[in-house]
Amino acid sequence: MPGTVVLGSQFGDEGKGKVIDFLAEHADVVVRFHGGANAGHTVLVGEEKYAFHLVPSGILRPSTMNVIGNGVVLDPATLLQELEDLRKRGHRAENLRISDRAHVVMPYHKAQDRVEEDLKGKFKAGTTGRGIGPCYQDKVGRFGIRMADLLDPSVLADKLETLVPIKQRLLAAYGSHDTIDGKAIHREYAGYGERLGPYVTDTSVLLEGELRAGRRVLFEGAHGTHLDIDHGIYPYGTSSNCVSAEAAIGSGLGPRAIDEVIGVVKGFTSRVGTGPFPTELQDETAEYLRERGGGEYGTTTHRPRRVGWLDLVMLRLSARVNGLTGLAVTKLDVLGGLKTIKVCTAYTFADERIEEYPADMRLLSKVKPVYADFAGWPDLPEKEWGGIAAKGVDALPEAVRTYLDALSKAMRAPVRIVSVGRSRDATIHVAT
Ligand code: IMP
Ligand code: MG
Repeated sequence: MPGTVVLGSQFGDEGKGKVIDFLAEHADVVVRFHGGANAGHTVLVGEEKYAFHLVPSGILRPSTMNVIGNGVVLDPATLLQELEDLRKRGHRAENLRISDRAHVVMPYHKAQDRVEEDLKGKFKAGTTGRGIGPCYQDKVGRFGIRMADLLDPSVLADKLETLVPIKQRLLAAYGSHDTIDGKAIHREYAGYGERLGPYVTDTSVLLEGELRAGRRVLFEGAHGTHLDIDHGIYPYGTSSNCVSAEAAIGSGLGPRAIDEVIGVVKGFTSRVGTGPFPTELQDETAEYLRERGGGEYGTTTHRPRRVGWLDLVMLRLSARVNGLTGLAVTKLDVLGGLKTIKVCTAYTFADERIEEYPADMRLLSKVKPVYADFAGWPDLPEKEWGGIAAKGVDALPEAVRTYLDALSKAMRAPVRIVSVGRSRDATIHVAT
């Protein structure tokens, strides 16, 4: 703090929700700065499980302000549903602010998402189908509708009058049979504008004021570095920038608003979606990790995640492009019970050693991982991990500490948080 970014260092699903919830205790403001309802953050409070897609993860803490920044693409129906669910479970959701510059996901974006995936064939990303890519396309193409437009029905009508025929022609040209009813969309979305209007504001001004007043702001990354539109596994990732610099752009702040960047690293790798994955496992270890991970099914799509060993080639890229200042390492309990744990330190292809993550996806799909073997640690009951967490990092089994040291050394960043279970208690804050 004061300005801390937390983001995924792998393909998403690193356990960010839990880390953010843990850090949110010390934050005055939590900001979502990119992505949309394709994200899925799971937070466990006692026995209560919450899965968030759009609301920032500080929403469960009544004194925390929660901001959806301009970099987010917002699906109003999903957001209203989440707010309603929270209310039903006894949480006030008044501490929410939405940027007037955030782009709105429209019904035709979802139709476009579906048909484009079909047309892309082997180049499809396996999207979540939430209309994320097409919404960002429209933002960049200047066809977009922003939250500010929803607040004035006449502005919305004006835009839809121009956009709907264009989108209809595009969908027809793609061979889609979806039809777009502009009038129905206007009715629906003007209604959303009315309901969400009270939350909409210039969040850039708001956040600058908060930082100037010395308040602590936590920027909540929604996906993982390797899904980033520039630095990720293009074209198999998502359509937003997922790296730390986006926290500034997507919140309307300068880069100096960011003091710390915490990269969340899961003790192994997982991926929901298509594309090359050099350390992917297909054997019984994969099944072991998937089942014990408990949550190794996508939070948004419920698809089984592909799993594999930790990959330091990937992680070195993450450390570099994000300028990581610290690591939060998660799901180490899930690895418990394996005799040997492998970590990929480099790749090889045609007798050549590859140290840096390649841009060429065809090459990435052919490389072979070079592994270092680490001694495993026991499979401990949840309670026991909780007891260890209460004592601190030195109480961790030696093999875990060796694993963490290797990770920290390769990523040139200290381990700041260790998570050894799903509950809030199974978390160690490493003192600096
Ligand atoms: P989209 O973001 O829905 O367009 O999907 C693009 C790719 O990113 C797909 O492979 C998705 O599975 C993946 N993806 C998007 N968001 C997440 C996330 O929060 N966790 C994991 N994978 C994601
Ligand atoms: Mg997730």
